[in-house]
Amino acid sequence: MTQENIVRAIWIAEDDPRCVMVIDQRRLPFELSVRELRTGDDAIDAIRDMTVRGAPLIGITAGYGLYLATLDAPRDERFDHHIADAALRLKRARPTAVNLAWSIDRMLAAMAPCGSAGEKIAAALAMAGRMEREDVEGCRRIGEYGLPLIEEIARRKEGARVNLLTHCNAGWLACVEHGTATAPIYAAFDRGIDLHVWVDETRPRNQGARLTAWELARRGVPHTVIPDNTGGHLMQHGLVDMVIVGCDRATATGDICNKIGTYLKALAARDNNIPFHVALPASTFDWSIRDGVAEIEIEERGGDEVRFMEGASGEAVMVVPEGTPVANYGFDVTPARLVTGLITDRGLCRADEADIRRLFPEIARR
Ligand code: MRU
Repeated sequence: MTQENIVRAIWIAEDDPRCVMVIDQRRLPFELSVRELRTGDDAIDAIRDMTVRGAPLIGITAGYGLYLATLDAPRDERFDHHIADAALRLKRARPTAVNLAWSIDRMLAAMAPCGSAGEKIAAALAMAGRMEREDVEGCRRIGEYGLPLIEEIARRKEGARVNLLTHCNAGWLACVEHGTATAPIYAAFDRGIDLHVWVDETRPRNQGARLTAWELARRGVPHTVIPDNTGGHLMQHGLVDMVIVGCDRATATGDICNKIGTYLKALAARDNNIPFHVALPASTFDWSIRDGVAEIEIEERGGDEVRFMEGASGEAVMVVPEGTPVANYGFDVTPARLVTGLITDRGLCRADEADIRRLFPEIARR
């Protein structure tokens, strides 16, 4: 694939089914480089060091990671132990996005009925590929279901520009293609709706400024990067028509865990009567929990991500006084009461248990 042709975040190398290719997102937007994953440990490292990130992509990478672990497993009685160990370590690579555990559990279930190592390898590759395809289709449907929400705003504004606000990167870089929060945006843009996206920079890793801005620019979608503390001001002045964000884990009751700072945007949106929508595929629901604030483990990352900022040169610049204590919580929880609606791959629903279950009737109650 040439650089211009790269429009997905993960793929199997054309000439080598034992090699999984991912974009190294740590270098964007300054450099579009691709990293090869050849072992289960390569996948664990890529998730941990955030070469790949974003809930759905973490899940798909973990799936391929377990497939790679089947390839590097010893072909003897230690095979199953190697896989079980890799599964455990992959699950622990990052704690908050539930897509990771969801993917590993599906991979293990696919391999469970197989007898030989060869069968397990084939089953692992098939399941990882299936999850990848499902993610693409799920995000495409999120775009289809979310589009009428933006069309409705455009109608109400009689064709005047629609201003959307998003947080972090819930685009195709966080998934495989389309993205979650960006899927309705791309769908509306492709339909010719005049729209503009406010992009929260999303400190400390700046996924908005670095990744979402890069994605939107590549597609030609008008956008403006704003410091994280700007959204409330824009909302008070009628400059935001709708907030649309992604999600790393949703409870069965509609609480939403997403990149740190999402909760504050939801509060400001509620105070200003602005719709706050969350886009997510089925793989992001954690049906085992009901109270997001109490039950979701929030990742705490290293302090250097706060102490230092990195730009095009790659040089890390210290931005707080030497020795100052810092805190780096990766995610927060927006309670369901602040969420106007969910845009899922099964359709639109309110962020409440009954309406979510209407779309997912097959999920047993706990
Ligand atoms: O820490 P990250 O970059 O993995 O966090 C990503 C987010 O919080 C995204 O908003 C989320 O995964 C949305 S899902 C497309």
